[in-house]
Amino acid sequence: MCGIVGYTGKSEAIAVLLGGLERLEYRGYDSAGIAIIENGKVVVEKKVGKIRELVRKLWGMPLKGTTGIGHTRWATHGEPSEENAHPHTDEKGEFAVVHNGIIENYIELRKELESKGISLKSDTDTEVIAHLVALNYKGDLLEAVLKTVKKLKGAFAFAVITKHEPGRIVGVKEGSPLVIGIGEGENFLASDIPAILPYTRKVIPLSDGEVVDVTPEGINIYDFEGNPLTKDFMLVQWDIVSAEKGGFKHFMLKEIFEQPRSISDTISGFISQESEIFINLKDYRRIIIIACGTSYHAGLVGKIWIEKYAGVPVEVAYASEFRSGHYPIDENDLVIAISQSGETADTKFAIQGVKEKGASVLSIVNVLGSSIARESDFTLYTHAGPEIGVAATKTFTAQLVALYMLAVYGLEEKEELYERLINIRPKVESILEKAKEIEDIALKYVESKNFLYLGRYLSYPIALEGALKLKEISYIHAEGYPAGEMKHGPIALIDSKMPVVFVAPKDKVYDKILANVEEVLARKGIVISVGTEGDKVLKEKSRDFIGVPEIEEDLTPILTTIPLQLIAYYIANKLGLDVDQPRNLAKTVTVE
Ligand code: AGP
Repeated sequence: MCGIVGYTGKSEAIAVLLGGLERLEYRGYDSAGIAIIENGKVVVEKKVGKIRELVRKLWGMPLKGTTGIGHTRWATHGEPSEENAHPHTDEKGEFAVVHNGIIENYIELRKELESKGISLKSDTDTEVIAHLVALNYKGDLLEAVLKTVKKLKGAFAFAVITKHEPGRIVGVKEGSPLVIGIGEGENFLASDIPAILPYTRKVIPLSDGEVVDVTPEGINIYDFEGNPLTKDFMLVQWDIVSAEKGGFKHFMLKEIFEQPRSISDTISGFISQESEIFINLKDYRRIIIIACGTSYHAGLVGKIWIEKYAGVPVEVAYASEFRSGHYPIDENDLVIAISQSGETADTKFAIQGVKEKGASVLSIVNVLGSSIARESDFTLYTHAGPEIGVAATKTFTAQLVALYMLAVYGLEEKEELYERLINIRPKVESILEKAKEIEDIALKYVESKNFLYLGRYLSYPIALEGALKLKEISYIHAEGYPAGEMKHGPIALIDSKMPVVFVAPKDKVYDKILANVEEVLARKGIVISVGTEGDKVLKEKSRDFIGVPEIEEDLTPILTTIPLQLIAYYIANKLGLDVDQPRNLAKTVTVE
């Protein structure tokens, strides 16, 4: 997720902008920039790398101006580079824009602008906004922005300034966050509260479909039709550190709660990228998915979807094991590398090996321009934004979304299947609304020393993932297992002290997993189940039952994983452990 800051008032804008961007650093970024109106001109300075590089570049340039916008970029379209860094301007440099989110129809808009003889300088989706506002400008910045917004599709928040109207910033909110800060004779815009907290605690979070007109004297809010709206401000009670976590105690919890947006952003991102995916899964004899940890679990789910919808045989291999194996790989094979960081050494070295044998490589990564992305022939980006907590949560569900869309995108009925995904957001939100109920259940088992997680079919990888989440942040031993395998040995483990978490939504294997529940009950095991809301039969058999909303069977993994993330979080939090930085672990494993 990118960071946006805007200021207009009585002070020098540069100090407010740089300070605000520094307080957004926790969000992760690869470049930064500012635009200030100085002596009737828009002056833009931007730099790849950390904000201190930008500060160094600005030394000796006493940029003077009391209106400006700033940005930290988390690349989604276009590699990290100075050209692609924000702010972006129109051809004459009279308008500057900073943007967070995805303009889904940017390729079509780029073509439209180029047909008007406008040449674009960057590879980004953002730049189209600057050119459109300039084209629509007839003397009123607000009017120009309202006209521009009507042409944009996707999830976005942006802020615009122009040399023609110094002192004025216009901001837009649709899908990505944007808050207004209310000062005395000065006003602020930001993508997140920490950026402006030192200057004001009076904020107004904008809602989707709103535009704000900001001057030092005041702010006016409108809907996209230009109708004025009135909104009350709120007083922020947080301190800076907790504000970086959005008021959550840990980044992991914040990221679990970001999943409605990260799922939507990944769907938008896939759709905006779709025209660049010149790959048909059916062209390949076999697909091998290579990954580690949570990404490997995503691969196991992806295997089922790809075999079902593309009809191509899929193998899933741990990257570390794959490298020492003897897979007969050649140009008829497609390797899919899944890695949220895009830097995991085992995965990176594995794909270097397969490329030498002529296989094609598609990677699914969350970090644009990362090593694995650069090593791949094709890259599909998840748009989860930077994930700070070591335990993967929102990047996992984003990987599932990307894999599902990849599996179905070659089908006639893909639009209908995409629609199912787009409608999943409220179902994710309704699970998160049960967080307190889930916490109460989790805390009953905080003393347990061992857990079993069981699932079948699409739920088996989710059982593995739930077990990994618990062990990596609570240090409690937990094992994920195919429920059908229990009778081949592990059922000997069951006794009255063993909590067994069943992932058991209503799907084609439901009756079979119900029988597995009975097997555990017969041995006095403790049954905790994640099932479909309203499933009285399973609920009756379970000591604790967490219901997820009814959904097409294929999409159950995206929902059933969320309660398991929360169970792991609340147990580790209760144990007072370092949830975001568990012992012995790194967020990115760059060693073999
Ligand atoms: C998951 O919670 C762990 N942090 C770990 O297993 C992780 O999934 C694994 O190291 C792979 O990382 P990657 O997706 O960045 O390649």
